[in-house]
Amino acid sequence: GKIIYNGELKTRSDVKVDIEDRGYQFGDGIYEVIRVYNGEVFASNMHVNRLMDSAKMIQLKVPLTVAEIEALVKELIAEDKLRNGIVYMQLTRGVCSRTHAFPINEVEPVFVAYTKEMPYTGKVKPGVKGVTTDDIRWLRCNIKSLNLLGNILAKQQAVEASCDEAIQHRDGKVTEGSSSNVAIMVNGTLKTHPATNLILNGITRQVMLKLCADNDIPYVEEAFTVEEMMAADEVLYTSTSVEVTPIINIDGQSIANGEPGPITKSLQKLFSEEIE
Ligand code: PDD
Repeated sequence: GKIIYNGELKTRSDVKVDIEDRGYQFGDGIYEVIRVYNGEVFASNMHVNRLMDSAKMIQLKVPLTVAEIEALVKELIAEDKLRNGIVYMQLTRGVCSRTHAFPINEVEPVFVAYTKEMPYTGKVKPGVKGVTTDDIRWLRCNIKSLNLLGNILAKQQAVEASCDEAIQHRDGKVTEGSSSNVAIMVNGTLKTHPATNLILNGITRQVMLKLCADNDIPYVEEAFTVEEMMAADEVLYTSTSVEVTPIINIDGQSIANGEPGPITKSLQKLFSEEIE
C-alpha cells in the first residue's frame, strides 16, 4: 500500500522511522484519526483543524496547510481505493540527537498518514460494558498527543475486566473514556464534561452536540460524578471509531434497565443520517 510521508505518496515498505525521531523517543508529536464513509472523509476540516490546534499547543510548526493536508488525504484515499475505513495521521517534531528540549537548529517535522479498512454496516451499535478507573493522565488532555500511556493503561484495564471502554474520573468527576468522550442522560437532558484541558474535545462529541441543538434535545456541558452516572437514565460514549454507542453496564451494574435508552437511540439514528 501507499502512505503519505512528508507531503509525498510513497510505498509503505520504503519508509523507515529513524531511531532518533522525537515521536519514537519521546512521544513528541500529535495525531488524528479520521473516518472515511463511502469514499468520503467525515468531518475532514474539523479533524485537520484540530491537528493544527494540537500542533500550536506544543509549539510545533506544521509544514503543510489545512488545504494541503486535506488534499493529500483525498489523494491517499483515491490511491488506496478506500471506501470505508480510517485515515491515521501523525506529526512528530522530527529527527535530532536525543535531548529533552526542542532541537536548537531547524528540524523538519515528520508527517505520516496511512489508511486502514474498517467496515461500515450502517446498523445501530448495541450497548457495551464499561469499567470506571482513576484518570491518571497529565493536565493537557485537550492536546491530541502521541503520549498515550495513561490511555493505554486505562484501556487495558477495560480489556482485563472484559469491558469495551474504561471511563476515567478525576476528583470524583467523570472526564472521558480512554479513547472516547462520555455523556449521560438525566431527565431528558444530556450532560457531558465541558471542553476543558481535562478532555479531548471529540469531533464526534461536537457533531452530537450540534445534533442535540438542531433536534431540541437539551444538553449541558457540565462535569458529572460517577454516582450521577451510575444512577443516570442513559449513558453513551462517542468517538470516530464507535460513533455514538450506548453503555448499558458499568462496573458490573446495569444502567437503568440495562437496555440502550431512547435518546441514545435517536442520537445514533441522527448520527447515521449525518454519514449518509
Ligand atoms: N480517539 N478522547 C480521547 C482521549 C480520544 O483518544 C478520542 C479519540 C476521543 C474522541 O474524539 P473523536 O470523536 O474526535 O474521535 C476522545 C481516537 C479515535 C483514537 O485514538 O483512536
